[in-house]
Amino acid sequence: MAKRKKQSRNNIRHLITKLNPRSPISEQYRTIRTNLQFAAVDDDLKTMLVTSSGPSEGKSSTVANLAIVFAQQGKRVLLIDADMRKPTMHYTFRLDNRRGLSNVLVGEQTLEDSVVGSDVTNLDLLSCGPIPPNPSELLGSKAMERMISEAKGIYDLIIFDTPPVLAVTDAQILANICDGALIVVRSKQTEYDAAEKAKELLSPAKAKLLGVVLNDREEKKGHYYYYGTN
Ligand SMILES: Nc1ncnc2c1ncn2[C@@H]1O[C@H](COP(=O)(O)OP(=O)(O)O)[C@@H](O)[C@H]1O
Ligand SMILES: [Mg+2]
Repeated sequence: MAKRKKQSRNNIRHLITKLNPRSPISEQYRTIRTNLQFAAVDDDLKTMLVTSSGPSEGKSSTVANLAIVFAQQGKRVLLIDADMRKPTMHYTFRLDNRRGLSNVLVGEQTLEDSVVGSDVTNLDLLSCGPIPPNPSELLGSKAMERMISEAKGIYDLIIFDTPPVLAVTDAQILANICDGALIVVRSKQTEYDAAEKAKELLSPAKAKLLGVVLNDREEKKGHYYYYGTN
């Protein structure tokens, strides 16, 4: 029992855009939002995925904060945890993961019954659900296409968290059914060649490559000067 408590404490993640929308970091997420809107100006960006070459580069943190800033802008947003290898969204938003995407895709639950609201206005969440043995197959299924088209009728933007591109094909599969893809690289962690390879693997997909987010960049001295005090 004590151990479980400790583990859940370690898994708690703080969402800066929710806790402190006026911070410089939240401002940077809003800048990414604006840039995404410019990147997709001629195409309708209704579905997008966030991915990276390897693990722990900041995919889940980026996707959650982006979903929040889009919702704060008034868009109806659905955030889906499609990282069925290492799902974390249920920790971040403290959700029950007993039902989620996997249940919808195998036909056990409807989308409506599995989506939950969040304490951010306009933001709904679909956690991963029980980890299935065949994530790639589920993500590439007709059921997935049906679910997305149903969600498009309800939401302005559907955003997917995904596993690393170099590890499994899931992100590539999703990139073939989404409008846009965003790559995260982590400062001092992501190797240049790995980022290049991730881009190469995503390029042939249907999704437009929307850009790259540089995560965890070292703060420069005097940086705060430009942000003012409020
Ligand atoms: N910019 C950052 N500054 C500090 N910690 C970060 C930053 N980005 C990610 N992390 C932490 O690194 C870990 C991995 O991030 P996560 O978003 O889960 O990556 P991924 O989804 O790519 O595996 C998490 O504990 C997260 O809180
Ligand atoms: Mg993740």
